[in-house]
Amino acid sequence: MANTSLCFLLLIFVALVTQQLSPSLAKPATFSQDFHITWSEAHIKQLGNGTAIQLLLDQSSGCGFASKSKYTFGMVSMKIKLIPGDSAGTVTAFYMSSDVYANRDELDFEFLGNRSGQPYTVQTNVFALGKGDREQRVNLWFDPSAEFHTYSILWNRRHIVFSVDDIPIRVYKNNEAKGVPYPNSQPMGIYSTLWEADNWATRGGLEKIDWSKAPFYAYYKDFDIEGSTNGLAGAVTRSNNWWDAPSYQQLSAVQARSYRWVRVNHMVYDYCTDKTRHSTPPPECLAGI
Ligand SMILES: *[C@@H]1O[C@H](CO)[C@@H](O)[C@H](O)[C@H]1NC(C)=O
Ligand SMILES: *[C@@H]1O[C@H](CO)[C@@H](O)[C@H](O)[C@H]1NC(C)=O
Repeated sequence: MANTSLCFLLLIFVALVTQQLSPSLAKPATFSQDFHITWSEAHIKQLGNGTAIQLLLDQSSGCGFASKSKYTFGMVSMKIKLIPGDSAGTVTAFYMSSDVYANRDELDFEFLGNRSGQPYTVQTNVFALGKGDREQRVNLWFDPSAEFHTYSILWNRRHIVFSVDDIPIRVYKNNEAKGVPYPNSQPMGIYSTLWEADNWATRGGLEKIDWSKAPFYAYYKDFDIEGSTNGLAGAVTRSNNWWDAPSYQQLSAVQARSYRWVRVNHMVYDYCTDKTRHSTPPPECLAGI
């Protein structure tokens, strides 16, 4: 008995040590290694030697940044701390896009601010070959301005998974076999912007930005992009990429359970069930979660 528990403790210890070690061995990406500023240099400040950044929105401007490379499949994650207090009318976006506007593929995370004490909404959208209109909205179950939380997008040939702290909040499956477009023919860059969108963001534009609370600040850190930069051919030939491993081809039982929990308890809008927009649900909606 004593031996088994000792063994067990030892295992836990080893697991903890390797967990502690592996992230620091992974890439310590600084902002300028992977990204450049695309909009309003003066509104983005690097912190901690470039390991974190501060985005600022005031009445003169918002700001934005983009990855230097484009990726074909992979996973991107960032820790973000959103604007605290009265953030109604502000939008912080984190997305991947192929950038070729008319025909673009795009995977969006948009954080819609709210009045003090009311929940932030996360809107996700998926564009495939220029067609979007696939909005879903989830109200966050924590205050995303109090601490950093991890937001990630996994993209492989089988599905796209948007996660918050490793909890899937949206899955878009590859249903090309059923004639549903899927983003898999164009590399995508990674982008982020902070801007004002009080004509639509908070309660459909009813809640306006309170500029007396400006400037508004959001923070990012732990930039982690793992993807193939060799274009489509590279992604196809290098099938040993970890995001193609069987465990990334579908949600685990635990992830599937959390995903259901999100949909039942926190989903506030789903284009699939919006009868005013679609009298019959779009085909991808019938393919199940
Ligand atoms: C930034 O880098 C310098 C020189 O490498 C180091 O002395 C300093 O502690 C670093 N600061 C932070 C906040 O990491
Ligand atoms: C803001 O808070 C209200 C009230 O709780 C909620 O209905 C809404 O979904 C929240 N988000 C936005 C973006 O309005």
